[in-house]
Amino acid sequence: MKHLLTIDDLNAQDIAHLIQLAQSLQSNPEQYTSMANSAPLGLLFYENSTRTKLSFELAAKRLGFEVSSLDINTSSVQKGESVLDTLLNLKAMGIRFFIIRHRQEHIAQQMADAISDIHVINAGDGMHAHPTQALLDALTLYQVKGAFEPLKIAIIGDILHSRVANSLIACLSKMGTHDIRLIAPKAWQPTHSNLYVSDDINALEDVDVVYTLRVQKERIEDAELRSLEDYISRFQLTKQRLSKANPNAIVMHPGPMNRGIEIESDVADGAQSHILNQVNNGIWMRQAILYNIATNSKAAA
Ligand code: CP
Repeated sequence: MKHLLTIDDLNAQDIAHLIQLAQSLQSNPEQYTSMANSAPLGLLFYENSTRTKLSFELAAKRLGFEVSSLDINTSSVQKGESVLDTLLNLKAMGIRFFIIRHRQEHIAQQMADAISDIHVINAGDGMHAHPTQALLDALTLYQVKGAFEPLKIAIIGDILHSRVANSLIACLSKMGTHDIRLIAPKAWQPTHSNLYVSDDINALEDVDVVYTLRVQKERIEDAELRSLEDYISRFQLTKQRLSKANPNAIVMHPGPMNRGIEIESDVADGAQSHILNQVNNGIWMRQAILYNIATNSKAAA
């Protein structure tokens, strides 16, 4: 693996290998310490982030990368410097590994295509893709449920605008999960999908996993929804609604959560919630991704 731009870069074997590697790191954290030998790595987060940014920073430092984080708000981005020029300048300083989050779709792909001898990881590009989130979710699902093929999963919320949903659906489909149910108000349903799509939250009946997406409040007004209250009354994951799922069902959410909007606090903090487990797995999965790219880079050198 040279870059990680979308889940399309991976096949089922690659995903299984990353899950295995992440679990190996988790069970023996010391084994790969310093493997990166102080290779410079840049974090370029043009959009806000808590989980992705800090878990990449922790993961990279644990592997021995020398990590630099560009503060976009005080950088020359504010003087109009383009993403391409920024990366070219950081490459001139010796940085070869770039973790990029940006509101523009496909920007990570464009940088990977435009600049030679660098490695790019997409940490979320607009509404397009968030592959490392999907992989940490896959790790969490595998650890809790043990297999992908028999899983029944409901994904609830703004599917249409969600990079998390795009990458999760792609990842689970590659791993053989067939029963993926998309539950959303009509305005937030995907325009084309081979999957089961419903605007009735009762479609989560019997599922093994309930994955609730963050309501992007900025989209409420233009999404033909009557109001936030309307969304809450029809789609909020409550204890009562969760009780219709399999009794062993787990609850997942990519964060950040809007408590009291897409999810009730009792559910977010309840016994079935694996939300903080997802966050913890983010470090191990991101270590596995960086390890994989760095070792391939050494092999190619
Ligand atoms: N899930 C996720 O991408 O969270 P952050 O925006 O905090 O990185």
